[in-house]
Amino acid sequence: MFLKIKITTLIENKEDNYNKLKNEHGLSLLIEAYGEKILFDTGKSGDFLDNAKDLNVDLENLGYVILSHGHYDHSGGFKRLAKSIDKKTNLLVSEEFFFKKYKKLDYGFKFNGNSFDRDFIFENNINIEFIKEDFNKISDKIYLFKNFKVLNDFEKIEDCFYLKKDNNFIRDDFKDEVALGIDTDKGIILVLGCAHIGIVNIIESVKRKTNKEIFAVFGGSHLVNASRVQILETIKYLKDKNIKILRLSHCTGDKVCSEFIREFKDRFKYNKTGDINDDLV
Ligand SMILES: [Fe+2]
Ligand SMILES: [Fe+2]
Repeated sequence: MFLKIKITTLIENKEDNYNKLKNEHGLSLLIEAYGEKILFDTGKSGDFLDNAKDLNVDLENLGYVILSHGHYDHSGGFKRLAKSIDKKTNLLVSEEFFFKKYKKLDYGFKFNGNSFDRDFIFENNINIEFIKEDFNKISDKIYLFKNFKVLNDFEKIEDCFYLKKDNNFIRDDFKDEVALGIDTDKGIILVLGCAHIGIVNIIESVKRKTNKEIFAVFGGSHLVNASRVQILETIKYLKDKNIKILRLSHCTGDKVCSEFIREFKDRFKYNKTGDINDDLV
């Protein structure tokens, strides 16, 4: 039983403290809380599995694997995991997860999505459940959220992201994006994948759904190409709401992370490969 809450960063963009682990543009976090063992995202390549071994992290008996959205840097490693996944493990993804995702570049559209489809899941006998509701409970104190509301005008989904539907490219509204919440006496610990719809929209949607305060935020916040207005409004919001612990990284962007260190002092720490957070509550 993991009564203590522990979040281990199995892979992220930046190298670990001792330069022993693999890093890549991607994210994978192991969440142990209230007796549940949950893998949140699988990085790009599956190298998170090698890091787990080197970190002596046991990935047997995963209760759930959650893929936050259908971008390759969060779902790509699932194919390697699928070979060894426990038959009791549940894969939870949003019902829009298998939409075909693309990125618009100067020369045209580049596939940016999952390296597997529904057939792969069924051929490998993986238990899959599709998340549809705004607010879902994995257990009494562990939640999954989706269908985030657009509640401000400063957060814009980056205009390079597209879906391919019936041979047409349409702007991606990231209906597939899910975030995980761990309820504690201090408030919710929120875990994000990329937060394409905006970290403020997500936090505010979760607060309104649960009527609870957000205590800590982990994951990617996709501020890497954000406008100056969006960055300043985000800092203002996180200060106003008095979020105590910020452990952002991945697509937050180095420049924004440096600014967050200046603004939030020791409340902010770049959460990189190999980082273990077990003293949150
Ligand atoms: Fe993404
Ligand atoms: Fe990402």
